[in-house]
Amino acid sequence: MLTKDYIEIEEKYGAHNYHPLDVVIKEAKGVWVTDVEGNRYLDCLAAYSAVNQGHCHPKIYDVFVEQAKHVTLTSRAFRNDKLPILYKKLHDMTGYDMALPMNSGAEAVETAVKTARRWGYDVKGIENNKAEIIVADGNFHGRTTTIVGFSDDPSSYGGFGPFTPGFIFHEYGNAEDLKSKISKNTCAVLIEPIQGEGGIVIPPEGYLKAVAQICKDNNVLFICDEIQAGLGRSGKLFAHYYEDVRPDIVIIGKALSGGYYPVSAILADKEIMGVIKPGQHGSTFGGNPLAAAVAVRALEVLEEENLVQHSFEMGEYFISKLRAIDSPHISLVRGKGLWIGFVLDRKARPYCEKLMAEGILCKETHENIIRFAPPLVITKDEIDWAVGKIEKVVKELDNVQF
Ligand SMILES: Cc1ncc(COP(=O)(O)O)c(C=O)c1O
Repeated sequence: MLTKDYIEIEEKYGAHNYHPLDVVIKEAKGVWVTDVEGNRYLDCLAAYSAVNQGHCHPKIYDVFVEQAKHVTLTSRAFRNDKLPILYKKLHDMTGYDMALPMNSGAEAVETAVKTARRWGYDVKGIENNKAEIIVADGNFHGRTTTIVGFSDDPSSYGGFGPFTPGFIFHEYGNAEDLKSKISKNTCAVLIEPIQGEGGIVIPPEGYLKAVAQICKDNNVLFICDEIQAGLGRSGKLFAHYYEDVRPDIVIIGKALSGGYYPVSAILADKEIMGVIKPGQHGSTFGGNPLAAAVAVRALEVLEEENLVQHSFEMGEYFISKLRAIDSPHISLVRGKGLWIGFVLDRKARPYCEKLMAEGILCKETHENIIRFAPPLVITKDEIDWAVGKIEKVVKELDNVQF
């Protein structure tokens, strides 16, 4: 079958909830993917940062296959021999006392919301059903009905109400505005340290520190959604390390499995995690032994291959090269680590389509921003190759109207 045959079937029988580029991937290794017709592309999206370790990493693959021979799912009705190892690994790597495992990122965000509300009632003493969580405008935390209920993007929330109450907006990056939204019912502030889906929006320096301080002063939990930003993407293990703060709850997912499996978790100290008691929260697949074994290996790969530092160094290099491209349509190149927003003064989609024809896969976020976020294993030579192609496409489109 050819590309068009797969697309025809997909369009006919699948829900149209995405608008993918018309490439049908069959194989992937490291930063490279190959389509059904044998064309090779450099992946500059990395499955929205879920394959930070590179596609089909052999070390993770070995554990994935080995664990599949033994036991894949026990449910949490019984214990398994891999989940404790993941808990310990997360503790050793991050310093948090405890973790609560789930599957998708959105489920982990829901878990953080539930934990914060529970803490608000049981520890802070907020009147029942009055708890408020302050979120940021421009946020993206996932797709459940509760989560889209606190999105300000109409394509996320439009037509899906009514929504869960108890979420208050503040202006992302504006600590004074955040302070003004705190009330006696505030149990938590939930933010992304850098807004990924928003277009790699980096808040002003000092904002995260101010958020942490405001939370501390007001007995409010600081929840940091590191699902996309975390595990090396930003050039640090967590993007909040740039401001040397310690959130009360950190949410992780995506690269926690290196792309093999949906694995997510929240991290917190025991005074906070302890508010969740048996029977109050869970998931059939959350914390399963296959997920746990894969996640431990995926975390080890980040360390063994020094991928966090590599992301920092390659990111600086990539950003500097992109900034050197001269075009009247490039408004701004911003980023941290290998997480780059290439902001144009017009539609980004034609650029993504042309880049695909040149062998680079990337995706627009919002109308006018291209995100460059390759697997963290990318080399300098591969960046040079990519920049050459990007420059070619930018120049070719400079004088084309659309
Ligand atoms: C910051 C952030 N939070 C949550 C999510 C949701 O994760 P998932 O798609 O695994 O539910 C995403 C996904 O892009 C994300 O970027």
